[in-house]
Amino acid sequence: MDLFEYQARDLFEAHDVPVLPGLVANTPEEARDAAARIGGTTVIKAQVKIGGRGKLGGIKIVDTPAEAFAAATGMLGMDIKGYPVDRVMVVQAAKVDREYYFSVLLDRANRSYLAMCSVEGGMEIEQLAEEKPEALAKVAVDPLTGIDEAKAREIVTAAGFDSEIGDKVVPVLQRLYGVYRDEDATLVEVNPLVLTESGEVLALDGKITLDDNADFRHDNREDLAVSAHDLDPLELKAKKNGLNYVKLDGSVGIIGNGAGLVMSTIDVVANAGRRHGGQKPANFLDIGGGASAEVMAAGLDVILGDGQVKSVFVNVFGGITACDAVARGIVGALDSLGDAATKPIVVRLDGNNVDAGRRILAEHGHPLVTVVPSMDEAADKATELAARSELAALGN
Ligand SMILES: Nc1ncnc2c1ncn2[C@@H]1O[C@H](COP(=O)(O)OP(=O)(O)OP(=O)(O)O)[C@@H](O)[C@H]1O
Ligand SMILES: [Mg+2]
Repeated sequence: MDLFEYQARDLFEAHDVPVLPGLVANTPEEARDAAARIGGTTVIKAQVKIGGRGKLGGIKIVDTPAEAFAAATGMLGMDIKGYPVDRVMVVQAAKVDREYYFSVLLDRANRSYLAMCSVEGGMEIEQLAEEKPEALAKVAVDPLTGIDEAKAREIVTAAGFDSEIGDKVVPVLQRLYGVYRDEDATLVEVNPLVLTESGEVLALDGKITLDDNADFRHDNREDLAVSAHDLDPLELKAKKNGLNYVKLDGSVGIIGNGAGLVMSTIDVVANAGRRHGGQKPANFLDIGGGASAEVMAAGLDVILGDGQVKSVFVNVFGGITACDAVARGIVGALDSLGDAATKPIVVRLDGNNVDAGRRILAEHGHPLVTVVPSMDEAADKATELAARSELAALGN
């Protein structure tokens, strides 16, 4: 789960990372009151889980509560790179002297943690890594020892801090690591970490990704999940039904049992799509081993709710759950969806009890369902149907 900046600020504060006073506001009135409580010059920041807000009008410096009201009025309801702004953070303004970068993250490839740090903060880290890779220090962090004082010194030295500022940054990095460790995060990023004109080191913008696998160890997680409603609505629906679903950008909906099979289905569809006007997979959806009628119906329901989907490819390999049970699942799903099933569905069934499974589908004879024997043929059929539906829509 990715946190909002204001949630990251709150967690930083709870772990004694130096931050500025900040309050979240859902309305212009709340923003005005927050600015009055904080006092002085404040910054109004759109709370969206995407960077680059500044250039898009998502960060405004204001001097009075009335100005905070006006800035929040402009920002709330705005759309930043497809993310609606439902709340803003009102935060005290800092007098910034220098901007730095720091992050610690799970480095899967090296089965370790990795700290990255630079005295050149402020700009997007991808850009920094690309344009000035030598300015970005990368230091491996042993999960068993973490960022202790010695490791923090190694990081600030590699990043090029002089010793005076380095001394101030070291304890901040140790505390940021405390956030990473104690909250079971997979990413803690501060961009910018700043040095103020009065010589303080502060975390001005924070990004935290929490490891969902550790949810059970934390009782703050449900409160942090306010973000649920800004999840993609289809992903939210899938989550509620316990489905493993990731929305992609294409037109061919995909349902399969088992993550490996679904991934290869995505590959064959992408490949077949090249022959049919560039059709692409619309999603990843693994309904798991069971593939009961209810799960199949829930899966189809999610996929058919995706306006971009033009055809659906159901790719199931009968294993412990035999093909006849899967076929009954598909039939049951189509019956329960009734008129809601509006798009062509290509089914490839194979494995345990395949003949019985195919017979059930043939006898059911649903007009939208085509049963195709192999995965490649099915991918071809599904992408062809999607392309045809797109052409038909153009013709209208
Ligand atoms: N509280 C603050 N006081 C003073 N300046 C601030 C404050 N918060 C942010 N800024 C300034 O705005 C810049 C962008 O802020 P921030 O990093 O929080 O947003 P962002 O979405 O990452 O934006 P961008 O990608 O455009 O840098 C910072 O680099 C900093 O210069
Ligand atoms: Mg930033």
